[in-house]
Amino acid sequence: MRTMEMALVEFRRHLKVKDISLYDSICDCQINPILINGYPIELHSMMKEGGLALMQEPLQFTRLLRLAQAHDVKSFIQIGIGDGGDFILLVEYLASIGRNVTSWAIDPNVTPQFYRYVHDCDPGAFWGVTVEIKIIPFHPNQFPFGLKIPRFDLGIVDSEHGHEIRRANMMRLDSCSDMLAVHDVSEIQTVMAAWNEYRATSGRRWSLINDQQPSVEITNKPICGYGILWPKDKP
Ligand SMILES: C[S@@+](CC[C@H](N)C(=O)[O-])C[C@H]1O[C@@H](n2cnc3c(N)ncnc32)[C@H](O)[C@@H]1O
Repeated sequence: MRTMEMALVEFRRHLKVKDISLYDSICDCQINPILINGYPIELHSMMKEGGLALMQEPLQFTRLLRLAQAHDVKSFIQIGIGDGGDFILLVEYLASIGRNVTSWAIDPNVTPQFYRYVHDCDPGAFWGVTVEIKIIPFHPNQFPFGLKIPRFDLGIVDSEHGHEIRRANMMRLDSCSDMLAVHDVSEIQTVMAAWNEYRATSGRRWSLINDQQPSVEITNKPICGYGILWPKDKP
């Protein structure tokens, strides 16, 4: 089985030598087989045990990384980490383009794979930048965890799918982040409802990332979808 560490070595190499596109390098990290019914058939060959076990549609996630690049993101806070697939890719991508990264990971069920990444894989040393990762292994309803929460460039919500829970998590991260990215706003009814409600009242501008694989017309299904909330004054 390909381990997280093996997939990470490959991803770093791709980022460094740019031998394949960012999209292809994300696909190469492997996506989580748990989600087999949510992904189009074209992606099924990447669903093997192991790798980074990403739980995002790679084309949409590529757009999110580009957006983070374009908006000078250096710090982010995320609720819902899983095995760390998207969190790790974002840290590595930002570090690879020379940014010093500060990131906080909130999840009551932090996995051994994610701990291994944070404690053993040292993205800062690899990319020659400063990377600080704080793991908060608690339920987000304990936010702010008795901590002074700093301001982040980006907040990411990808945890439980219930309406009220999702809405509460959006409010938490919105209060400490300039931009907000919310997962699964296109397909899961409770998330969609929470997103629509929150964006209507937040006073922020918003957009959706709903891209699919070019060949996905066959399934014609927007997978996950990211809702992005922007500050009014940001272009
Ligand atoms: C879909 S996974 C995250 C996947 C990850 N973002 C990725 O793309 O690879 C959802 C995560 O939410 C976490 N979770 C479950 N209940 C939660 C809760 N009440 N609050 C916060 N996180 C929760 C789970 O432990 C799980 O790690």
